[in-house]
Amino acid sequence: MKDELIIFDTTLRDGEQSPGASMNTAEKMRLAIQLEKLGVDVIEAGFPAASEGDFEAVSDIAGKLRNVEVAALARTSKEDIDRAWGAIRKAVKPRIHTFLATSDIHMKYKLNMSREQVIKTAVEAVKYAKSFTDNIEFSSEDGSRSDRDFLCKVFEATIEAGATTVNLPDTVGYAIPQEFSDLVKYVRSHTPNINKAVLSIHCHNDLGLATANTIAAIAAGARQAEVTVNGIGERAGNTSLEEVVMTLHTRPNYMPVTSHLNTEHIYPTSRLVSMITGIIVQPNKAIVGANAFAHEAGIHQDGVLKNPMTYEIMKPETIGLSANKLVLGKHSGRHALRTHLKELGYDLNDKEIKLVFTKFKELADKKKYVLDEDLEVIVTEGILRTSDIFSLEYLHVSCGSSVHAMAGVTLNINGRSVSGTGYGNGPIDAAYNTISQLTGTNSDLLRFSVSAITGGTDAQGEVTVRLSENGLIALGRGADADIIIASAKAYINGLNRLEYLKSHPVTSEEGL
Ligand code: KIV
Ligand code: ZN
Repeated sequence: MKDELIIFDTTLRDGEQSPGASMNTAEKMRLAIQLEKLGVDVIEAGFPAASEGDFEAVSDIAGKLRNVEVAALARTSKEDIDRAWGAIRKAVKPRIHTFLATSDIHMKYKLNMSREQVIKTAVEAVKYAKSFTDNIEFSSEDGSRSDRDFLCKVFEATIEAGATTVNLPDTVGYAIPQEFSDLVKYVRSHTPNINKAVLSIHCHNDLGLATANTIAAIAAGARQAEVTVNGIGERAGNTSLEEVVMTLHTRPNYMPVTSHLNTEHIYPTSRLVSMITGIIVQPNKAIVGANAFAHEAGIHQDGVLKNPMTYEIMKPETIGLSANKLVLGKHSGRHALRTHLKELGYDLNDKEIKLVFTKFKELADKKKYVLDEDLEVIVTEGILRTSDIFSLEYLHVSCGSSVHAMAGVTLNINGRSVSGTGYGNGPIDAAYNTISQLTGTNSDLLRFSVSAITGGTDAQGEVTVRLSENGLIALGRGADADIIIASAKAYINGLNRLEYLKSHPVTSEEGL
């Protein structure tokens, strides 16, 4: 029988390290619930020592989820390990994940520690963490660029100290598949007690090889893969969950492991991550990109109509992309909406359903068919952003070829309505100038992009912005059938995220 691959999802921790991708506690909780439904084995919920916000989110998630292991990241200090344990202690199966760099370059320039000191520190950290729980993971940061024999010594010592998982990260995305496979084999054959722990891998995508390296490592004997949904993460991101899982699913004959993930939740989870973080999935992204199942060439379309397997190696339904996405129209009732939202994974209470239903009716008046993607937008904007400081109440713009664009805006700021007017070079500029005046904010707009959520001329437009203020960076996302309103919502969402970052300062980033 094949081994089960342990899927360790770090979307909430390494994924959140994508520039601008901060999530509030409610958003993290929603995503954690979806990850549990997807069936991942471990959720790395955050890095509690980094900020109060992270601590709170990890603690809430650990207290709520009952069918998944919850991990928290910690450096090797007692303070970090105490914070990690404090946050996850209510989990059904808590895991402390501690890490220390083991490459010569990191030890010399970052840690200023000798090899002996690194081993001693890692061992002490694992022993200390072990005083709280048996379930300990140790990661050798920059493992792929570490001296092989030293790496094996570190793993041997940390397993001896009680680590139940040892993780080999390709922290800077430098490895190539054959080399990484050889390294995993080397570690397995030169770490005497390796069979007492699970060997894990954690790859970054700087050369676009994260999934290839992960698959090569699994073939070489790794039994835990650390991944993120949509491959989001530090710099070029991490190994993408959907690519690994669908490779196992599609090419089982070549894979020594299986996975029990509920693949039909892959697409909804991908959408949710994109909606919450504001990071758009590139159209040609494997598995979950908008074009992943689109056939442009006539000869391909003809073949797919005759037999989908001519050009499709996976069925769209397997990842939860339903062929029939048409769901509700303006005559649909509250019950139908509630049932459909439940199918999509949103188990909302009566108050939330009431709010979503009102928004749904408003949209159904503007748009003939309300699709799943439209509903997701309503839920994300209406329910998950409850802790927002600023929200849009009213927007009117006037513009044209021979007039200066003007915007009239009413915002709700901390429960109070505030109105104003302003001008700009076009309607979006006018709206943004007015919003910035009313909120008293002064951020720079680094990026602005527009796309359509679904097909058709009545499709909702989706706008994403990237804002920066005093060194803080936040993404904002907004959707609406009216593109100017979508732009205003995206800007306001970005401003809310900046406010969140200001009120939840990262207290410690050193070492990550
Ligand atoms: O990339 C990395 O090395 C990490 C570790 C903390 C596991 O994210
Ligand atoms: Zn990482």
